[in-house]
Amino acid sequence: MASAMEALVLYPATHKTAVVDVPKPMPGPGEVLVRIHAVALNPVDSIYVTHPLATQKQRVLGTDFAGVVEAVGPSPIPNSPAVGTRVAGFVQGACSVNELPGAFAQYVALPADLVWTVPKAMSLESASTISMCGLTAAQGVFARLRLPAPFPVPDVYKAKTTTNADPVNILVYAASTSLGMYIAQCLRASEKASGRKIRMIGTASQSKHALLNAPPYSYDAVIDYRHKDWPKMVREATTGGNGVQYAIDCISEGATVSGVESTFEASIHGEGHFATFRAPGGAGGGYDVGSLKVKPTYGAVWEGQGVEVDYGVFKLAPNAAAKELAVEFYQYLSSQDGNFVPNPVRLMPGGLDKIVPDGFALLGSNMVSARDEGPARTEAHMKPISGEKLVYVIEEE
Ligand SMILES: NC(=O)c1ccc[n+]([C@@H]2O[C@H](COP(=O)([O-])OP(=O)(O)OC[C@H]3O[C@@H](n4cnc5c(N)ncnc54)[C@H](OP(=O)(O)O)[C@@H]3O)[C@@H](O)[C@H]2O)c1
Repeated sequence: MASAMEALVLYPATHKTAVVDVPKPMPGPGEVLVRIHAVALNPVDSIYVTHPLATQKQRVLGTDFAGVVEAVGPSPIPNSPAVGTRVAGFVQGACSVNELPGAFAQYVALPADLVWTVPKAMSLESASTISMCGLTAAQGVFARLRLPAPFPVPDVYKAKTTTNADPVNILVYAASTSLGMYIAQCLRASEKASGRKIRMIGTASQSKHALLNAPPYSYDAVIDYRHKDWPKMVREATTGGNGVQYAIDCISEGATVSGVESTFEASIHGEGHFATFRAPGGAGGGYDVGSLKVKPTYGAVWEGQGVEVDYGVFKLAPNAAAKELAVEFYQYLSSQDGNFVPNPVRLMPGGLDKIVPDGFALLGSNMVSARDEGPARTEAHMKPISGEKLVYVIEEE
């Protein structure tokens, strides 16, 4: 077996990147080694190249991957996927101070309970889009908003009990983001689990309304966030016309947060109703929670890995409940036989060497809401990202 592999690495001191040979990882106890076939891109992959957190000489980039189990480490856990199983998962890449593995490579080793089994009918390209934003969505809906889940959750996330059978109104701001498309599926799964109707109101560009009105998202109303009166239009779209009881801001940058907060019903106060995905303040989404009566709760998907993540400005402690939720969610994905629908894929030409010049150019280097019309490139694969995931093939299946 070769002892080296190709990987896309970041040199934090210079912010430069390169595809180079690095040592091939060995699976540790309870881990699997995955031969990677496809990787999907997330905004954090490029943010921490422009603004590195890592201080090591080099770090392997990349979070989302799908591939085939090549080896099982010593002391396998019960139900560890066998060699040859098609799996998907996510790792940290260079999004931390402490050293953790990256996915933009030929191989990755990670805990066997943090991968899920890809259904036969799903391509690995499609599967690579799910793990990171899918888990982020599950954390937002089931752990932070504590809506009923279609799988067992740790006690700290148990759903709030309610005897109210009226439909609950929920806004998903930026429903056409990768994250938003998984949030909608978690909400529809929650509705099925609890039997309580969710009236789902989304915001997105007009060109994405037909996609979002159709299954598996099946929005009850979709509003164009470019309309200056969109918060009023959201309130008017709720049952009773008084505003929402829950909201999820898939952008969580600057004015999106106060705009979303203004769509709440007047009786809603405090925490537990509003989920955001970038932290407040300048190092995050640049919003201020001080003046908001409905307080957004932020969470980072990395908690699901159950290990300490050092962000420089703060550390996420190992979180056993978040890991348990991740494991349950991935078992749920494995059992869905394709019913959890991947994001539409934009297959990007080239391999590891094209991720930075093409993919990261499209992702930009900080705010999603500040992406301009995209880089001045005319190729079809370089149009702005809208309702899809950028995917690179590392090796054909
Ligand atoms: N906390 C966490 O652990 C975590 C995990 C994953 C992602 N995130 C964060 O979640 C955010 C979304 O990530 P993603 O990968 O889902 O994004 P993405 O798919 O790359 O986002 C692209 C979408 O953003 C929409 N958009 C851009 N500006 C907008 C605005 N001002 N208002 C409304 N929509 C706007 C566009 O909608 P239209 O095409 O309809 O115009 C487009 O479809 C990022 O900030 C990411 O870093 C956080």
